[in-house]
Formats: sequence, structure tokens, C-alpha cells
Amino acid sequence: MEYLLPYCSSQRQLSCIRNELLSLWKENRIFFESVFVTGNAKKLKGEKIKYLLESGLLQIESNKYFFSPYRIIKYEKLFLITDRFDNPSKNRVFPLSKDESLYLACKLKVQHGINVLDFGTGCGIFALVSLQMGAKLVVAVEVNLRAIYFAKLNAQLNSLAGGLEIIFPHELEEYPANKFDLICTDPPVVPCPPNSGLFVHSDGGPYGTVHLENIIEKVPKLLKSNGYFQLVTLALGTDKSNLLEDLLRIYLSRIQFSYNIYNRYSRPLINLTILYDYFKSSSNYISWQQELNDKKFKCLHYFYCEAKRDGCGFIGRQSIKIQKSKNSGTWEKRLRRLFFAF
Ligand SMILES: C[S@@+](CC[C@H](N)C(=O)[O-])C[C@H]1O[C@@H](n2cnc3c(N)ncnc32)[C@H](O)[C@@H]1O
Repeated sequence: MEYLLPYCSSQRQLSCIRNELLSLWKENRIFFESVFVTGNAKKLKGEKIKYLLESGLLQIESNKYFFSPYRIIKYEKLFLITDRFDNPSKNRVFPLSKDESLYLACKLKVQHGINVLDFGTGCGIFALVSLQMGAKLVVAVEVNLRAIYFAKLNAQLNSLAGGLEIIFPHELEEYPANKFDLICTDPPVVPCPPNSGLFVHSDGGPYGTVHLENIIEKVPKLLKSNGYFQLVTLALGTDKSNLLEDLLRIYLSRIQFSYNIYNRYSRPLINLTILYDYFKSSSNYISWQQELNDKKFKCLHYFYCEAKRDGCGFIGRQSIKIQKSKNSGTWEKRLRRLFFAF
């Protein structure tokens, strides 16, 4: 595995990197946004970038033009390093997106002293936001070694490594019942044919539900009474039903649970035809498409779900129709970016 910063174990050097990022963000926002967020090369003169250069977070293209091989987002007080959208590696670290990661990050139900489970932590955003908001313990589950490395690095970069446990999925079995006050996730949920080569951060199996089911199934055991389960996701479905709500009904109706589902968009943003197009060259494409057709899936729905284990013995569903928002269309654009590597 390529290691990003050879000396990332040195807290002193990481705090120098953080200081340089902060001063670039404060004093040259245009440079910061275009190099670290958008991914362009830009001229720079005078600013302190010694440690950014040494670490490889910033590199010289030509004649005072600099670029970054990574994406760096400033969220609240955090700097979060991820891979760039144009990185074609299957194991790339999920580049934080506004309509998923940041959407959920600002809604996390964190109170001082709680235990949080972040399933599929990626660069660690939900874990680090939770710690910053006062969580006592955050268990971050991740399967991708590269993402684990980035999450650790981001924790150190933001001086939030205390209270963070990063574990592989199978290690979750070792945690006792009723351990967590909050379980949050943005799991890989793009439906795709077997061996499609899709990024690990998005491959949700043929129906998109492999990881979704894996975590929803664990909620009844791991979540404390009055705890929250929050997720952003998409799900295949018809006009009237969808796989997310089917899973919530199967697993959460066993316990006392209530949930609100906010349909984030007034209509499904992309239909299956668009999704199918991306996988046409995949070897298992025809049988996969046939399977989905047989199930009569016509739509993809995109959800933000907030569920509370509250003991009131009530399962409800609330759909709030949000007007076509300025985010509308983002999914299609994102999927185009997502499959750019094919
Ligand atoms: C859509 S990304 C979200 C990352 C991060 N939470 C965010 O919002 O930026 C899903 C993450 O789940 C991870 N993942 C994939 N399979 C997993 C598994 N079996 N168990 C835990 N995490 C997994 C991926 O590597 C990826 O980092």
C-alpha cells in the first residue's frame, strides 16, 4: 500500500501540516479550494508550505504551479484528507460528498460522553465529528486498509486519536449488546453486477443491499435504549416500495423502534436505465439486469433516515416531500463521476 506521509506518526509534524493548511485556508481560500477541493493546479508564492511539500500533500507541477494528489476538505474545525474523485483505484478512499457525508455529518445526534459506532468510516468523518462533539468512544468499522490508514491519519491530524477504535467488520462481533448510543452509516449501496470492478466504497452487491443489511441487522443488538440509528443511503424499488424500508421492517420491527424517513428529493433522480448504462461492459451484466427486471425495480430512491430506539412500541413512517432542491441532479452527476473510471 502506498503510504501517504512517511512520518505521519510524528504528532509535531502533523500539527505543522495542520497549521499550514489552516493558514492557506484563512489567507488564500481561492488556492485552498481550487487545489485541495476542486483538484486543479494553481500558482502560489510566499505562503508557508514546507511541511505540505515534504509530506507530498502538495506537489510542484511546474513553475510555481502546485497541485495535490489528494482531496482535502475543511469541515467545521476538521481537515479531512481523502482520495480525489479522479483516482481510479478500486480501493480509493471515498471522496467526501456534500449530499452524503457532509449531509449526515451535520445531523449527527451526538451528546457528551456517548458511545458511537461508525460503520464504513472511510476517511473517518462521522467518527471525528462525533469525537469533536464530545463522544467518549467511537468505534469505526472499515474493511479497506487504505481507508483505515487515512482515518488514522485524519484522527492524528486533528488531534482526535484518543477515544477512537478502528476495527475490521468481523471484530464488531466482540462488542457487547447495548453498547452504542448512536450508530451512523453511509454504506456502499450502488447496485452493480458481480465483479463489476466498482470502487469498494460504493459496491453494494447486485441489489445494493449487502452492507445495508449487514448493519441494519446488527442494530437491535448493539443499540442502547433511546439510542439513534442514522443513515444516508439509496435503495432500489418500485413507485410504492423500496429495499431500504423492507430491511427496516424486517429487522427493526423485532424491537421497539420508531423512525422517520425523509425522502430527500421529490422524485427519484436517476432511473435504472442510466444505472444499467454504466455497467454494460461488465461480464455479468445481462443476468444481473434480468434479475433486477424480474423484481420489477424501476426506481432508485435516496434517503436520509433517522431512527430512535425509544421503547414506545411504535413503528411509523413519515415522508416529507422536499421540493426540487438545488441539490437536484447531484446524483446523476455523482454517478457519472463515480463510473468515470470505466
Ligand atoms: C460510501 S463510503 C462512506 C465513507 C464515510 N462514512 C463518508 O461518509 O465519507 C462507504 C465506506 O464503507 C466501507 N466498507 C465497504 N465494505 C465494508 C464492510 N464490509 N464493512 C465495513 N465498511 C465497509 C468502504 O470502504 C467505505 O469507506
